[in-house]
Amino acid sequence: MKKALITGITGQDGSYLTEFLLKKGYEVWGIIRRSSSFHTGRIDHLYKDPHDMPRLKLVYGDMTDGTNLSALMNEIKPDEVYNLAAQSHVRVSFDMPIYTVNADALGTLRLLEAIRSSNRAVKFYQASSSEMYGKVVEIPQTEKTPFYPRSPYACAKAYSFWQTLNYREAYGLFACNGILFNHESPRRGETFVTRKITRGATRIKCCLQEKLYLGNLEAKRDWGYAGDYIEAMWLMLQQDKPDDFVIATGESHSVKEFLEEVFSHLDLDWKKYVEIDSRYFRPSEVELLQGDASKAKKILGWEPKVTFKALAKMMTDADMKTAGDEKILKEQRQ
Ligand code: NAP
Ligand code: GDD
Repeated sequence: MKKALITGITGQDGSYLTEFLLKKGYEVWGIIRRSSSFHTGRIDHLYKDPHDMPRLKLVYGDMTDGTNLSALMNEIKPDEVYNLAAQSHVRVSFDMPIYTVNADALGTLRLLEAIRSSNRAVKFYQASSSEMYGKVVEIPQTEKTPFYPRSPYACAKAYSFWQTLNYREAYGLFACNGILFNHESPRRGETFVTRKITRGATRIKCCLQEKLYLGNLEAKRDWGYAGDYIEAMWLMLQQDKPDDFVIATGESHSVKEFLEEVFSHLDLDWKKYVEIDSRYFRPSEVELLQGDASKAKKILGWEPKVTFKALAKMMTDADMKTAGDEKILKEQRQ
């Protein structure tokens, strides 16, 4: 039985990847951080399935603790490591640049060193990001497009990209960078713009809130579905040789377009409910991202399945159910 170790297992991608690998017959180990409250909500359902439970194991760890990562590597002896852990919020990285770089850049190096010193043939996936393209120098962005990072988060991810490539070239490690463009789902964190919009719009529809406060509505992103993207991570590690791949839909849409999609699905006019709040603007913005995933299509046979429209609908429908439940609970309390 193949063994995979996932950092960031409690996050959006970690939860989808865990489901995917368990279905493929893997034993999955996940690193979780100690917290004063439960934060395994995205993977709790996997423990309820008697087939999955014995093959899913959680251990404590942190990307800022290299000794712990080394000990885990020696204890678990994984065949594949997926490094998904990160302080992944771009706006927050301006408030916490040192921590972000510690976890997202040095954390990757700590993990790479833990793998190298374990002297085992481990395959490594690094969650690289389209944010590295930042102030884009060409449209669309490919594996050959130079980086121009615009935030502490993006600088940290660029560092990790190069370290991953360096460990591949210097030590022959099977290490791949997936340069993933934005990908969303009903499990997306609620402070990222798509989920903030679907949560806000559905709560407005259920009379649970009156306004939705947002920042730059003109920014454009290449938005795909997380469930599609995690398969590309796995495919990269099943190839004969390690390489780097852009994973994207090839389409770019503005925040405004996403708003229109969601509010019109709920028969609402977003202009009546959305207010601009300067707190949500960034000191330096990434105005446009649009990826070209032809290399992934050619070599991995990977293509996105869920369209922009279907993604907005999927997220809105899921949040409509949550808002409906919230409304019932509120009425029962009154
Ligand atoms: P996410 O939902 O924010 O999940 C991040 C995960 O990292 C969580 O499990 C979090 O644990 C964990 N984590 C954070 N700091 C940590 C630390 N110091 N030590 C150990 N674990 C830590 O992110 P996501 O959307 O799933 O993204 C997964 C990865 O892909 C991230 O590296 C992200 O930067 C990258 N990425 C994401 C996208 C996207 O559009 N989603 C695109 C490109 C790249 P807690 O639950 O304890 O907070
Ligand atoms: N979060 C947020 N909140 N973003 C807003 C808001 C708001 O209220 N209003 C407008 N935006 C704009 C941001 O300025 C940005 O241009 C765009 O919406 C998307 O913001 P996020 O959803 O926070 O995502 P991101 O593109 O900054 O970063 C995500 O994608 C990256 C890949 O390109 C994250 O998942 C990163 O971890 C990931 O690497």
